[in-house]
Amino acid sequence: MNSIAIGTFSMTRLSGGQQLAIKYFAVAMVLFVAQCLFGLFAGLQYVMPEFGYNWLDFSVNRMVHINAMVVWMLYGFIGSVYWLVEEEAGTELVGLKLANLAFWVLTLAVTLVVLVYLFVQTGAGEIETIWFINEGREYIEAPRWADIGIVACVLVFFYNIAATFNKGSWSGISGVLVLDLVALAGLYLAGMFYTANISMDQYWWWWVIHLWVEATWEVLVGCIMAWGLMKTLGARRVVVTTWLYIEVALMFGSGILGLGHHYFWIGTPEYWLTIGGFFSALEPIPLVAMVVHAVYDSGVHKFRNANHPALAWLIAHAFGNFFGAGVWGFMHTLPQINLYTHGTQWTSSHGHLAFFGAYATIIIAVIYLAIQKARGDVHMGAGLATGWRWKWSFTLLNVGVVGMTMALLISGYEQSFVERALEGSSWSGYFAAQSTHWYMQGMYWREVWGVVTIVGLIILLWDLVTICADEKRASPVLNKATATA
Ligand code: HEM
Ligand code: HEM
Ligand SMILES: [Fe+2]
Repeated sequence: MNSIAIGTFSMTRLSGGQQLAIKYFAVAMVLFVAQCLFGLFAGLQYVMPEFGYNWLDFSVNRMVHINAMVVWMLYGFIGSVYWLVEEEAGTELVGLKLANLAFWVLTLAVTLVVLVYLFVQTGAGEIETIWFINEGREYIEAPRWADIGIVACVLVFFYNIAATFNKGSWSGISGVLVLDLVALAGLYLAGMFYTANISMDQYWWWWVIHLWVEATWEVLVGCIMAWGLMKTLGARRVVVTTWLYIEVALMFGSGILGLGHHYFWIGTPEYWLTIGGFFSALEPIPLVAMVVHAVYDSGVHKFRNANHPALAWLIAHAFGNFFGAGVWGFMHTLPQINLYTHGTQWTSSHGHLAFFGAYATIIIAVIYLAIQKARGDVHMGAGLATGWRWKWSFTLLNVGVVGMTMALLISGYEQSFVERALEGSSWSGYFAAQSTHWYMQGMYWREVWGVVTIVGLIILLWDLVTICADEKRASPVLNKATATA
Protein backbone atom coordinates (compact mmCIF):
# COMPACT_ATOMS: atom_id res chain seq x y z
CA MET A 1 0.00 0.00 0.00
CA ASN A 2 2.76 2.40 0.91
CA SER A 3 4.60 1.66 -2.31
CA ILE A 4 2.03 3.63 -4.30
CA ALA A 5 3.35 7.12 -5.01
CA ILE A 6 1.55 10.15 -3.62
CA GLY A 7 -0.66 11.62 -6.31
CA THR A 8 -1.65 8.29 -7.83
CA PHE A 9 -5.34 7.49 -7.48
CA SER A 10 -5.73 4.14 -5.76
CA MET A 11 -8.77 2.52 -4.21
CA THR A 12 -6.41 0.40 -2.07
CA ARG A 13 -5.75 3.41 0.13
CA LEU A 14 -9.41 3.46 1.09
CA SER A 15 -11.53 1.49 3.52
CA GLY A 16 -14.48 -0.60 2.31
CA GLY A 17 -17.03 2.12 3.05
CA GLN A 18 -14.89 4.72 1.33
CA GLN A 19 -14.53 2.59 -1.80
CA LEU A 20 -18.28 2.25 -1.89
CA ALA A 21 -18.59 6.01 -1.46
CA ILE A 22 -16.44 6.58 -4.56
CA LYS A 23 -18.87 4.43 -6.57
CA TYR A 24 -21.81 6.47 -5.31
CA PHE A 25 -20.00 9.68 -6.21
CA ALA A 26 -19.24 8.42 -9.72
CA VAL A 27 -22.91 7.67 -10.44
CA ALA A 28 -23.89 10.98 -8.85
CA MET A 29 -21.70 12.90 -11.28
CA VAL A 30 -23.03 11.01 -14.31
CA LEU A 31 -26.56 11.91 -13.24
CA PHE A 32 -25.52 15.53 -12.64
CA VAL A 33 -24.44 15.72 -16.29
CA ALA A 34 -27.74 14.13 -17.36
CA GLN A 35 -29.63 16.63 -15.20
CA CYS A 36 -27.98 19.62 -16.83
CA LEU A 37 -28.30 18.24 -20.34
CA PHE A 38 -32.03 17.67 -20.01
CA GLY A 39 -32.35 21.07 -18.31
CA LEU A 40 -30.84 22.63 -21.41
CA PHE A 41 -33.29 20.76 -23.64
CA ALA A 42 -36.25 21.86 -21.49
CA GLY A 43 -34.96 25.43 -21.42
CA LEU A 44 -34.55 25.40 -25.19
CA GLN A 45 -38.21 24.47 -25.52
CA TYR A 46 -39.19 27.75 -23.89
CA VAL A 47 -37.50 29.63 -26.73
CA MET A 48 -38.00 27.06 -29.53
CA PRO A 49 -41.28 25.33 -28.62
CA GLU A 50 -41.16 23.04 -31.65
CA PHE A 51 -37.84 21.50 -30.57
CA GLY A 52 -38.23 17.81 -29.68
CA TYR A 53 -41.98 17.82 -30.27
CA ASN A 54 -43.28 14.25 -30.10
CA TRP A 55 -39.88 12.67 -29.65
CA LEU A 56 -38.34 14.51 -26.68
CA ASP A 57 -41.26 16.32 -25.10
CA PHE A 58 -40.93 19.07 -22.51
CA SER A 59 -42.76 16.96 -19.93
CA VAL A 60 -40.14 14.23 -20.31
CA ASN A 61 -37.17 16.59 -20.33
CA ARG A 62 -38.40 18.37 -17.25
CA MET A 63 -39.07 15.11 -15.44
CA VAL A 64 -35.66 13.65 -16.25
CA HIS A 65 -34.05 16.98 -15.28
CA ILE A 66 -35.50 17.13 -11.79
CA ASN A 67 -35.58 13.41 -11.01
CA ALA A 68 -31.93 13.07 -12.02
CA MET A 69 -31.25 15.91 -9.60
CA VAL A 70 -33.02 14.30 -6.66
CA VAL A 71 -31.37 10.96 -7.34
CA TRP A 72 -27.84 12.31 -7.84
CA MET A 73 -28.15 14.26 -4.63
CA LEU A 74 -29.33 11.15 -2.76
CA TYR A 75 -26.35 9.30 -4.22
CA GLY A 76 -24.11 12.16 -3.10
CA PHE A 77 -25.52 12.04 0.43
CA ILE A 78 -25.35 8.26 0.74
CA GLY A 79 -21.79 8.41 -0.60
CA SER A 80 -20.85 11.14 1.88
CA VAL A 81 -22.21 9.17 4.81
CA TYR A 82 -20.41 6.00 3.70
CA TRP A 83 -17.31 8.13 3.32
CA LEU A 84 -17.30 9.38 6.89
CA VAL A 85 -18.98 6.57 8.84
CA GLU A 86 -15.99 4.36 9.54
CA GLU A 87 -13.73 7.18 10.65
CA GLU A 88 -16.46 8.69 12.78
CA ALA A 89 -17.39 5.35 14.37
CA GLY A 90 -13.76 4.23 14.69
CA THR A 91 -14.51 0.80 13.22
CA GLU A 92 -15.09 -1.02 9.94
CA LEU A 93 -18.40 -0.85 8.10
CA VAL A 94 -20.88 -3.51 9.16
CA GLY A 95 -22.36 -5.48 6.25
CA LEU A 96 -20.14 -4.24 3.44
CA LYS A 97 -21.23 -7.00 1.04
CA LEU A 98 -24.89 -6.19 1.52
CA ALA A 99 -24.12 -2.50 1.08
CA ASN A 100 -22.38 -3.22 -2.23
CA LEU A 101 -25.29 -5.33 -3.40
CA ALA A 102 -27.71 -2.52 -2.52
CA PHE A 103 -25.60 -0.11 -4.57
CA TRP A 104 -25.89 -2.26 -7.69
CA VAL A 105 -29.60 -2.95 -7.20
CA LEU A 106 -30.30 0.75 -6.76
CA THR A 107 -28.21 1.70 -9.78
CA LEU A 108 -29.93 -0.89 -11.96
CA ALA A 109 -33.34 0.36 -10.80
CA VAL A 110 -32.38 3.98 -11.53
CA THR A 111 -31.15 3.05 -15.01
CA LEU A 112 -34.38 1.21 -15.82
CA VAL A 113 -36.48 4.08 -14.51
CA VAL A 114 -34.61 6.62 -16.64
CA LEU A 115 -35.11 4.44 -19.73
CA VAL A 116 -38.83 4.19 -18.98
CA TYR A 117 -38.98 7.96 -18.48
CA LEU A 118 -37.37 8.50 -21.86
CA PHE A 119 -39.15 5.91 -23.96
CA VAL A 120 -42.51 4.95 -22.42
CA GLN A 121 -44.38 8.09 -21.39
CA THR A 122 -47.40 8.24 -23.65
CA GLY A 123 -50.56 6.20 -23.51
CA ALA A 124 -53.53 5.69 -21.26
CA GLY A 125 -53.21 6.33 -17.52
CA GLU A 126 -54.32 3.14 -15.76
CA ILE A 127 -53.73 1.97 -12.22
CA GLU A 128 -50.89 -0.22 -13.61
CA THR A 129 -49.25 2.95 -14.87
CA ILE A 130 -48.50 3.86 -11.27
CA TRP A 131 -46.78 0.53 -10.82
CA PHE A 132 -44.73 0.39 -13.99
CA ILE A 133 -44.50 3.74 -15.77
CA ASN A 134 -44.85 6.80 -13.58
CA GLU A 135 -46.34 7.66 -10.20
CA GLY A 136 -47.09 11.19 -11.30
CA ARG A 137 -45.66 13.03 -8.33
CA GLU A 138 -43.21 15.77 -9.31
CA TYR A 139 -39.58 15.05 -8.29
CA ILE A 140 -40.40 11.48 -7.24
CA GLU A 141 -42.09 10.19 -10.37
CA ALA A 142 -40.46 6.74 -10.15
CA PRO A 143 -43.03 3.95 -10.62
CA ARG A 144 -44.03 2.01 -7.55
CA TRP A 145 -41.93 -1.10 -8.19
CA ALA A 146 -38.88 1.15 -8.13
CA ASP A 147 -40.16 2.93 -5.02
CA ILE A 148 -40.24 -0.35 -3.18
CA GLY A 149 -36.72 -1.16 -4.39
CA ILE A 150 -35.52 2.26 -3.27
CA VAL A 151 -37.04 1.76 0.18
CA ALA A 152 -35.33 -1.64 0.48
CA CYS A 153 -31.94 -0.18 -0.51
CA VAL A 154 -32.36 2.73 1.87
CA LEU A 155 -33.18 0.30 4.68
CA VAL A 156 -29.95 -1.59 3.94
CA PHE A 157 -28.09 1.73 4.01
CA PHE A 158 -29.69 2.63 7.32
CA TYR A 159 -28.78 -0.73 8.82
CA ASN A 160 -25.16 -0.39 7.63
CA ILE A 161 -24.79 3.04 9.17
CA ALA A 162 -26.62 2.52 12.46
CA ALA A 163 -24.99 -0.87 13.07
CA THR A 164 -21.53 0.53 12.33
CA PHE A 165 -21.94 3.32 14.88
CA ASN A 166 -23.33 0.79 17.32
CA LYS A 167 -20.34 -1.46 16.90
CA GLY A 168 -17.87 1.41 17.12
CA SER A 169 -18.66 4.57 19.01
CA TRP A 170 -21.36 7.21 18.85
CA SER A 171 -20.72 10.95 18.71
CA GLY A 172 -22.91 14.05 18.68
CA ILE A 173 -22.67 14.15 14.90
CA SER A 174 -23.49 10.48 14.40
CA GLY A 175 -26.43 10.64 16.82
CA VAL A 176 -28.02 13.50 14.91
CA LEU A 177 -27.19 11.84 11.61
CA VAL A 178 -28.83 8.51 12.39
CA LEU A 179 -31.98 10.04 13.87
CA ASP A 180 -32.21 12.23 10.81
CA LEU A 181 -31.91 9.22 8.48
CA VAL A 182 -34.91 7.62 10.21
CA ALA A 183 -36.99 10.72 9.46
CA LEU A 184 -35.65 11.03 5.93
CA ALA A 185 -36.41 7.44 4.97
CA GLY A 186 -39.76 7.45 6.78
CA LEU A 187 -40.96 10.54 4.94
CA TYR A 188 -40.41 8.91 1.56
CA LEU A 189 -43.28 6.55 2.38
CA ALA A 190 -45.66 9.53 2.50
CA GLY A 191 -45.18 9.94 -1.26
CA MET A 192 -46.07 6.38 -2.17
CA PHE A 193 -49.71 5.67 -1.56
CA TYR A 194 -52.50 6.44 -3.95
CA THR A 195 -55.39 8.75 -3.18
CA ALA A 196 -57.95 9.84 -5.75
CA ASN A 197 -58.29 13.31 -4.23
CA ILE A 198 -55.72 15.70 -5.66
CA SER A 199 -55.69 17.96 -2.57
CA MET A 200 -54.95 15.00 -0.33
CA ASP A 201 -52.38 13.73 -2.76
CA GLN A 202 -50.57 17.09 -2.74
CA TYR A 203 -50.92 17.34 1.02
CA TRP A 204 -48.92 14.15 1.54
CA TRP A 205 -46.57 14.70 -1.39
CA TRP A 206 -45.31 17.90 0.26
CA TRP A 207 -44.35 15.86 3.31
CA VAL A 208 -41.70 14.30 1.14
CA ILE A 209 -40.61 17.34 -0.81
CA HIS A 210 -40.76 20.13 1.75
CA LEU A 211 -39.86 18.07 4.81
CA TRP A 212 -36.93 16.64 2.91
CA VAL A 213 -35.34 19.81 1.63
CA GLU A 214 -36.31 22.14 4.46
CA ALA A 215 -35.83 19.75 7.38
CA THR A 216 -34.13 16.38 6.95
CA TRP A 217 -31.73 17.22 4.10
CA GLU A 218 -30.75 20.44 5.84
CA VAL A 219 -29.91 18.50 9.01
CA LEU A 220 -28.01 15.92 7.00
CA VAL A 221 -25.86 18.58 5.36
CA GLY A 222 -25.46 20.18 8.79
CA CYS A 223 -23.82 16.93 9.94
CA ILE A 224 -21.67 16.74 6.82
CA MET A 225 -20.69 20.39 7.29
CA ALA A 226 -19.71 19.81 10.93
CA TRP A 227 -17.51 16.91 9.88
CA GLY A 228 -16.22 18.81 6.83
CA LEU A 229 -15.10 21.78 8.91
CA MET A 230 -13.12 19.43 11.15
CA LYS A 231 -11.55 17.84 8.09
CA THR A 232 -10.66 20.94 6.11
CA LEU A 233 -9.87 23.41 8.89
CA GLY A 234 -9.13 21.19 11.85
CA ALA A 235 -12.07 22.81 13.69
CA ARG A 236 -12.70 21.47 17.18
CA ARG A 237 -15.37 18.82 17.60
CA VAL A 238 -16.97 20.51 20.57
CA VAL A 239 -17.45 23.73 18.60
CA VAL A 240 -18.97 22.11 15.51
CA THR A 241 -21.21 19.83 17.57
CA THR A 242 -22.58 22.72 19.61
CA TRP A 243 -23.41 24.62 16.41
CA LEU A 244 -24.97 21.51 14.95
CA TYR A 245 -27.39 21.17 17.88
CA ILE A 246 -28.38 24.84 17.64
CA GLU A 247 -28.91 24.62 13.88
CA VAL A 248 -30.95 21.43 14.13
CA ALA A 249 -33.22 22.89 16.81
CA LEU A 250 -33.82 26.04 14.77
CA MET A 251 -34.27 24.12 11.55
CA PHE A 252 -36.86 21.71 12.86
CA GLY A 253 -38.51 24.47 14.91
CA SER A 254 -39.20 26.53 11.80
CA GLY A 255 -39.09 24.03 8.92
CA ILE A 256 -41.65 21.47 10.10
CA LEU A 257 -44.59 23.87 10.35
CA GLY A 258 -43.07 25.93 7.55
CA LEU A 259 -44.61 23.14 5.47
CA GLY A 260 -47.72 25.31 5.54
CA HIS A 261 -46.30 27.59 2.83
CA HIS A 262 -47.29 24.88 0.35
CA TYR A 263 -50.81 24.61 1.74
CA PHE A 264 -51.97 28.10 0.80
CA TRP A 265 -53.84 27.29 -2.40
CA ILE A 266 -54.34 23.53 -2.66
CA GLY A 267 -57.67 23.21 -0.89
CA THR A 268 -56.39 22.85 2.68
CA PRO A 269 -57.99 24.82 5.57
CA GLU A 270 -57.34 28.55 5.82
CA TYR A 271 -55.38 28.39 9.08
CA TRP A 272 -52.41 27.23 7.01
CA LEU A 273 -52.07 30.77 5.67
CA THR A 274 -51.09 31.98 9.14
CA ILE A 275 -49.12 28.94 10.24
CA GLY A 276 -47.25 28.57 6.96
CA GLY A 277 -46.51 32.26 6.61
CA PHE A 278 -45.27 32.63 10.17
CA PHE A 279 -43.09 29.56 10.56
CA SER A 280 -41.60 29.58 7.08
CA ALA A 281 -40.66 33.23 7.57
CA LEU A 282 -38.48 32.00 10.46
CA GLU A 283 -36.71 29.43 8.30
CA PRO A 284 -33.86 31.73 7.21
CA ILE A 285 -32.66 32.04 10.83
CA PRO A 286 -30.86 28.67 11.03
CA LEU A 287 -29.42 29.38 7.58
CA VAL A 288 -27.90 32.62 8.89
CA ALA A 289 -26.53 30.59 11.83
CA MET A 290 -24.88 28.21 9.38
CA VAL A 291 -23.12 31.06 7.55
CA VAL A 292 -21.96 32.58 10.83
CA HIS A 293 -20.69 29.18 11.93
CA ALA A 294 -18.72 28.44 8.74
CA VAL A 295 -17.23 31.91 8.48
CA TYR A 296 -16.44 32.03 12.21
CA ASP A 297 -14.65 28.69 12.11
CA SER A 298 -12.73 29.61 8.98
CA GLY A 299 -11.71 32.93 10.57
CA VAL A 300 -10.58 31.31 13.81
CA HIS A 301 -8.33 29.06 11.77
CA LYS A 302 -7.20 32.00 9.61
CA PHE A 303 -8.47 30.10 6.57
CA ARG A 304 -5.50 27.75 6.93
CA ASN A 305 -6.90 24.56 5.51
CA ALA A 306 -5.91 21.23 4.09
CA ASN A 307 -8.06 21.25 0.98
CA HIS A 308 -8.69 24.49 -0.90
CA PRO A 309 -11.35 23.29 -3.35
CA ALA A 310 -13.28 21.50 -0.60
CA LEU A 311 -13.26 24.55 1.69
CA ALA A 312 -14.24 26.83 -1.20
CA TRP A 313 -17.24 24.58 -1.94
CA LEU A 314 -18.16 24.37 1.76
CA ILE A 315 -18.25 28.15 1.97
CA ALA A 316 -20.22 28.26 -1.29
CA HIS A 317 -22.64 25.89 0.43
CA ALA A 318 -23.07 28.15 3.47
CA PHE A 319 -23.79 31.20 1.30
CA GLY A 320 -25.72 29.31 -1.38
CA ASN A 321 -27.98 27.79 1.26
CA PHE A 322 -28.55 31.18 2.86
CA PHE A 323 -29.31 33.02 -0.38
CA GLY A 324 -31.03 30.25 -2.35
CA ALA A 325 -33.19 28.82 0.41
CA GLY A 326 -33.22 31.65 2.96
CA VAL A 327 -33.42 34.86 0.93
CA TRP A 328 -35.02 33.55 -2.27
CA GLY A 329 -37.40 31.42 -0.20
CA PHE A 330 -38.33 34.29 2.09
CA MET A 331 -39.11 36.51 -0.88
CA HIS A 332 -42.23 34.54 -1.80
CA THR A 333 -43.15 32.75 1.41
CA LEU A 334 -45.74 35.17 2.82
CA PRO A 335 -49.21 34.37 1.48
CA GLN A 336 -49.75 38.02 0.52
CA ILE A 337 -46.83 37.75 -1.90
CA ASN A 338 -47.21 34.10 -2.83
CA LEU A 339 -50.70 34.91 -4.14
CA TYR A 340 -48.91 36.68 -7.01
CA THR A 341 -45.76 34.60 -7.41
CA HIS A 342 -47.09 31.06 -6.88
CA GLY A 343 -46.01 28.67 -9.63
CA THR A 344 -44.29 31.30 -11.77
CA GLN A 345 -40.66 31.42 -12.88
CA TRP A 346 -40.09 33.10 -9.53
CA THR A 347 -40.49 29.65 -7.98
CA SER A 348 -38.10 28.16 -10.50
CA SER A 349 -35.57 30.89 -9.73
CA HIS A 350 -35.67 29.93 -6.04
CA GLY A 351 -35.64 26.20 -6.85
CA HIS A 352 -32.43 26.49 -8.89
CA LEU A 353 -30.48 28.61 -6.44
CA ALA A 354 -31.64 26.61 -3.42
CA PHE A 355 -30.93 23.12 -4.74
CA PHE A 356 -27.61 24.11 -6.22
CA GLY A 357 -26.53 26.38 -3.37
CA ALA A 358 -27.56 24.13 -0.52
CA TYR A 359 -26.91 20.65 -1.84
CA ALA A 360 -24.86 20.40 -5.04
CA THR A 361 -22.09 22.47 -3.43
CA ILE A 362 -21.55 20.40 -0.31
CA ILE A 363 -21.54 17.10 -2.20
CA ILE A 364 -18.82 18.47 -4.50
CA ALA A 365 -16.85 19.47 -1.37
CA VAL A 366 -16.95 15.92 0.01
CA ILE A 367 -15.92 14.51 -3.38
CA TYR A 368 -12.80 16.70 -3.31
CA LEU A 369 -12.00 15.40 0.18
CA ALA A 370 -12.45 11.84 -1.04
CA ILE A 371 -10.15 12.35 -4.02
CA GLN A 372 -7.48 13.85 -1.80
CA LYS A 373 -7.45 10.73 0.31
CA ALA A 374 -7.58 8.34 -2.67
CA ARG A 375 -4.49 10.10 -4.02
CA GLY A 376 -2.61 9.40 -0.80
CA ASP A 377 -3.42 12.45 1.38
CA VAL A 378 -1.89 14.57 -1.30
CA HIS A 379 -1.39 18.33 -0.95
CA MET A 380 -4.55 20.05 -2.23
CA GLY A 381 -3.71 23.55 -1.04
CA ALA A 382 -2.08 26.56 -2.65
CA GLY A 383 0.10 26.40 -5.75
CA LEU A 384 -1.39 23.39 -7.53
CA ALA A 385 -0.09 23.06 -11.08
CA THR A 386 -3.65 22.66 -12.39
CA GLY A 387 -5.28 24.88 -9.77
CA TRP A 388 -6.95 26.99 -12.47
CA ARG A 389 -9.28 24.12 -13.21
CA TRP A 390 -11.00 23.94 -9.85
CA LYS A 391 -11.11 27.73 -9.66
CA TRP A 392 -12.64 28.11 -13.12
CA SER A 393 -15.14 25.32 -12.63
CA PHE A 394 -16.07 26.77 -9.24
CA THR A 395 -16.53 30.23 -10.77
CA LEU A 396 -18.40 29.14 -13.90
CA LEU A 397 -20.77 26.83 -12.03
CA ASN A 398 -21.61 29.44 -9.42
CA VAL A 399 -21.86 32.33 -11.88
CA GLY A 400 -23.88 30.15 -14.27
CA VAL A 401 -26.45 29.19 -11.65
CA VAL A 402 -26.67 32.73 -10.24
CA GLY A 403 -27.11 33.98 -13.84
CA MET A 404 -29.98 31.53 -14.43
CA THR A 405 -31.49 32.53 -11.10
CA MET A 406 -31.50 36.21 -12.04
CA ALA A 407 -32.88 35.56 -15.53
CA LEU A 408 -35.70 33.47 -14.07
CA LEU A 409 -36.41 36.11 -11.44
CA ILE A 410 -36.93 38.74 -14.13
CA SER A 411 -39.24 36.43 -16.06
CA GLY A 412 -41.07 35.55 -12.84
CA TYR A 413 -41.48 39.20 -11.92
CA GLU A 414 -42.98 39.96 -15.33
CA GLN A 415 -45.25 36.93 -15.09
CA SER A 416 -46.54 37.86 -11.61
CA PHE A 417 -47.12 41.41 -12.71
CA VAL A 418 -48.87 40.74 -16.00
CA GLU A 419 -50.68 37.49 -15.31
CA ARG A 420 -51.68 38.06 -11.70
CA ALA A 421 -51.69 41.79 -10.99
CA LEU A 422 -52.85 43.19 -14.35
CA GLU A 423 -54.90 40.33 -15.74
CA GLY A 424 -56.32 38.97 -12.49
CA SER A 425 -55.05 35.40 -12.91
CA SER A 426 -57.19 34.83 -15.98
CA TRP A 427 -56.56 32.13 -18.55
CA SER A 428 -55.74 34.74 -21.19
CA GLY A 429 -53.46 36.51 -18.67
CA TYR A 430 -51.51 33.28 -18.27
CA PHE A 431 -50.61 33.31 -21.96
CA ALA A 432 -50.24 37.08 -22.25
CA ALA A 433 -47.61 37.07 -19.49
CA GLN A 434 -45.55 34.40 -21.18
CA SER A 435 -45.29 36.24 -24.44
CA THR A 436 -44.09 39.55 -23.06
CA HIS A 437 -40.71 40.92 -24.06
CA TRP A 438 -39.11 40.72 -20.63
CA TYR A 439 -40.42 37.26 -19.92
CA MET A 440 -38.87 35.99 -23.15
CA GLN A 441 -35.60 37.84 -22.50
CA GLY A 442 -35.32 35.92 -19.24
CA MET A 443 -35.90 32.65 -21.05
CA TYR A 444 -33.13 33.39 -23.56
CA TRP A 445 -30.69 34.43 -20.86
CA ARG A 446 -31.46 31.38 -18.74
CA GLU A 447 -30.29 29.28 -21.66
CA VAL A 448 -27.09 31.32 -22.03
CA TRP A 449 -26.27 30.95 -18.32
CA GLY A 450 -27.22 27.30 -18.55
CA VAL A 451 -24.47 26.82 -21.11
CA VAL A 452 -22.03 28.60 -18.78
CA THR A 453 -23.11 26.17 -16.03
CA ILE A 454 -22.48 23.17 -18.27
CA VAL A 455 -19.02 24.44 -19.23
CA GLY A 456 -18.27 24.77 -15.50
CA LEU A 457 -19.53 21.24 -14.96
CA ILE A 458 -17.33 19.80 -17.71
CA ILE A 459 -14.25 21.48 -16.23
CA LEU A 460 -15.29 20.22 -12.80
CA LEU A 461 -15.41 16.63 -14.02
CA TRP A 462 -12.08 17.04 -15.78
CA ASP A 463 -10.62 18.43 -12.56
CA LEU A 464 -12.09 15.68 -10.37
CA VAL A 465 -10.45 13.06 -12.55
CA THR A 466 -7.05 14.72 -12.86
CA ILE A 467 -6.48 16.97 -9.85
CA CYS A 468 -3.16 16.38 -8.09
CA ALA A 469 -2.17 13.55 -10.45
CA ASP A 470 1.35 15.01 -10.67
CA GLU A 471 1.46 16.46 -7.17
CA LYS A 472 4.15 15.00 -4.94
CA ARG A 473 3.71 17.05 -1.77
CA ALA A 474 1.82 15.55 1.16
CA SER A 475 -1.00 17.40 2.85
CA PRO A 476 -0.16 19.13 6.16
CA VAL A 477 -1.72 17.50 9.24
CA LEU A 478 -4.12 20.17 10.40
CA ASN A 479 -5.95 18.37 13.14
CA LYS A 480 -2.90 18.16 15.35
CA ALA A 481 -1.50 21.55 14.42
CA THR A 482 -4.70 23.36 15.32
CA ALA A 483 -6.16 21.10 17.96
CA THR A 484 -5.87 23.80 20.60
CA ALA A 485 -7.22 26.68 18.48
C1 HEM B 1 -32.46 24.08 0.61
C2 HEM B 1 -33.68 24.34 0.90
C3 HEM B 1 -34.75 24.58 -0.12
C4 HEM B 1 -34.89 24.01 -1.36
C5 HEM B 1 -33.99 22.99 -2.04
C6 HEM B 1 -36.10 24.56 -1.94
C7 HEM B 1 -36.60 24.22 -3.18
C8 HEM B 1 -37.84 24.58 -3.64
C9 HEM B 1 -38.43 24.15 -4.89
C10 HEM B 1 -37.76 23.27 -5.93
C11 HEM B 1 -39.68 24.65 -4.97
C12 HEM B 1 -40.68 24.43 -6.10
C13 HEM B 1 -41.52 23.27 -5.80
C14 HEM B 1 -42.50 22.97 -6.90
O1 HEM B 1 -42.07 22.42 -7.91
O2 HEM B 1 -43.68 23.34 -6.76
C15 HEM B 1 -39.90 25.42 -3.76
C16 HEM B 1 -41.05 26.09 -3.47
C17 HEM B 1 -41.15 27.00 -2.44
N1 HEM B 1 -40.18 27.31 -1.50
FE1 HEM B 1 -38.42 26.42 -1.30
N2 HEM B 1 -36.66 25.44 -1.06
C18 HEM B 1 -35.87 25.49 0.06
C19 HEM B 1 -36.06 26.27 1.17
C20 HEM B 1 -37.04 27.22 1.30
C21 HEM B 1 -37.16 28.15 2.40
C22 HEM B 1 -36.21 28.23 3.59
C23 HEM B 1 -38.28 28.90 2.16
C24 HEM B 1 -38.88 30.03 2.95
C25 HEM B 1 -38.23 30.84 3.70
C26 HEM B 1 -38.88 28.41 0.93
C27 HEM B 1 -40.04 28.87 0.38
C28 HEM B 1 -40.68 28.29 -0.68
C29 HEM B 1 -42.04 28.61 -1.10
C30 HEM B 1 -42.97 29.63 -0.47
C31 HEM B 1 -42.33 27.79 -2.20
C32 HEM B 1 -43.64 27.74 -3.00
C33 HEM B 1 -43.52 28.57 -4.22
C34 HEM B 1 -44.82 28.62 -5.00
O3 HEM B 1 -45.84 28.93 -4.38
O4 HEM B 1 -44.82 28.38 -6.20
N3 HEM B 1 -38.08 27.40 0.42
N4 HEM B 1 -38.77 25.37 -2.98
C1 HEM C 1 -27.53 23.51 -16.69
C2 HEM C 1 -28.43 24.35 -16.91
C3 HEM C 1 -29.88 24.21 -16.51
C4 HEM C 1 -30.95 24.53 -17.29
C5 HEM C 1 -30.90 25.09 -18.67
C6 HEM C 1 -32.13 24.27 -16.52
C7 HEM C 1 -33.43 24.42 -17.00
C8 HEM C 1 -34.58 24.09 -16.33
C9 HEM C 1 -35.92 24.13 -16.87
C10 HEM C 1 -36.27 24.57 -18.27
C11 HEM C 1 -36.78 23.73 -15.92
C12 HEM C 1 -38.30 23.62 -16.03
C13 HEM C 1 -38.88 24.88 -15.49
C14 HEM C 1 -40.35 25.04 -15.74
O1 HEM C 1 -41.12 24.08 -15.60
O2 HEM C 1 -40.74 26.16 -16.06
C15 HEM C 1 -36.00 23.45 -14.74
C16 HEM C 1 -36.52 23.06 -13.53
C17 HEM C 1 -35.76 22.86 -12.40
N1 HEM C 1 -34.38 22.83 -12.33
FE1 HEM C 1 -33.10 23.31 -13.79
N2 HEM C 1 -31.78 23.81 -15.27
C18 HEM C 1 -30.41 23.76 -15.22
C19 HEM C 1 -29.66 23.38 -14.14
C20 HEM C 1 -30.15 23.08 -12.89
C21 HEM C 1 -29.36 22.87 -11.72
C22 HEM C 1 -27.82 22.90 -11.67
C23 HEM C 1 -30.24 22.66 -10.69
C24 HEM C 1 -29.96 22.37 -9.25
C25 HEM C 1 -28.92 21.77 -8.79
C26 HEM C 1 -31.58 22.71 -11.23
C27 HEM C 1 -32.75 22.54 -10.52
C28 HEM C 1 -34.03 22.62 -11.03
C29 HEM C 1 -35.23 22.50 -10.23
C30 HEM C 1 -35.29 22.27 -8.72
C31 HEM C 1 -36.31 22.65 -11.09
C32 HEM C 1 -37.81 22.63 -10.74
C33 HEM C 1 -38.20 24.03 -10.42
C34 HEM C 1 -39.65 24.24 -10.10
O3 HEM C 1 -40.43 23.29 -10.02
O4 HEM C 1 -40.03 25.40 -9.89
N3 HEM C 1 -31.49 22.96 -12.57
N4 HEM C 1 -34.67 23.66 -15.01
FE1 LIG D 1 -41.13 24.45 1.43
